Amino acid sequence: MTYSVSSLDKLLSGSFTGGEPGAVWLVGAGPGDAGLLTVKALRLIENAEVVVYDRLVSAEILALAPATALCIDVGKTPGFHGMKQAQINQLLVDLAATGRQVIRLKGGDPFIFGRGGEEMSWVQQAGIACHIVPGITAATGCAAATGIPLTHRDMAQSVRFITGHGRDGKPQLDWQSLQDERQTLVFYMGLTWCQALSDRLVGHGRDAATPVAIVERGTRRDQRVMITTLQQLAACVAQQQLQSPSLLIVGEVVKMYRQALPQGSQERLMPVT
Ligand SMILES: C[S@@+](CC[C@H](N)C(=O)[O-])C[C@H]1O[C@@H](n2cnc3c(N)ncnc32)[C@H](O)[C@@H]1O
Repeated sequence: MTYSVSSLDKLLSGSFTGGEPGAVWLVGAGPGDAGLLTVKALRLIENAEVVVYDRLVSAEILALAPATALCIDVGKTPGFHGMKQAQINQLLVDLAATGRQVIRLKGGDPFIFGRGGEEMSWVQQAGIACHIVPGITAATGCAAATGIPLTHRDMAQSVRFITGHGRDGKPQLDWQSLQDERQTLVFYMGLTWCQALSDRLVGHGRDAATPVAIVERGTRRDQRVMITTLQQLAACVAQQQLQSPSLLIVGEVVKMYRQALPQGSQERLMPVT
């Protein structure tokens, strides 16, 4: 479906009367800090009539929606799926079919490990327009909040965004392709499998002393950062009782970590051997 400037303009000016066909807006809410929303996302949220949101969307961002907006929580927590993906897809179609502009708010960027592609296909197959508004993904948000550059001319020429959660819940990766020490690895949803992740990386030749940053609730006021190594990763996660959402940044660039933390956040430094 083509981008409709007129429907966006009417929505943003508050003059949308419902006379036009409904549509779904897949909007990236970023990693938590409301200051990291795009201008377009902010305008859509502030003018929203219906918001369908995930667990990772922060309370600070939801509070930007008008008090009159209908906000529907379809949140999923690891191991417990509040609403199944097929039900969420259908809900979006049903709401848009009533002629509403449906704001589908997703943590980070909708197209990075967010199942945004599936939702977009479902909506489009139902003959409904689907617009995408990108967001700051957890990797870039956490990198900025910790001062860890994901690439660096002297340390890393490439970066990989990897999910620790395959189709059956376990990591299914080409471990051999992750050995280059000049490549930064960023693991989403890697906390549960951190022991397997470090075992496989070291087993395939990555140095056990490779530095790792664990960023819990990155960019939020209660962000926590742990600096450890591949060898000590699982012990650190257990000792510090780190929880989801957390991101793992693996590679030499972690040595650039600086204390650029949001006010009030906690940090603990584990020794890098
Ligand atoms: C289902 S994925 C969604 C990723 C999202 N679409 C994005 O672009 O950031 C959820 C995972 O993203 C990571 N994540 C999301 N927000 C985070 C945050 N504020 N701090 C650390 N990790 C975060 C965690 O690894 C979490 O388990």
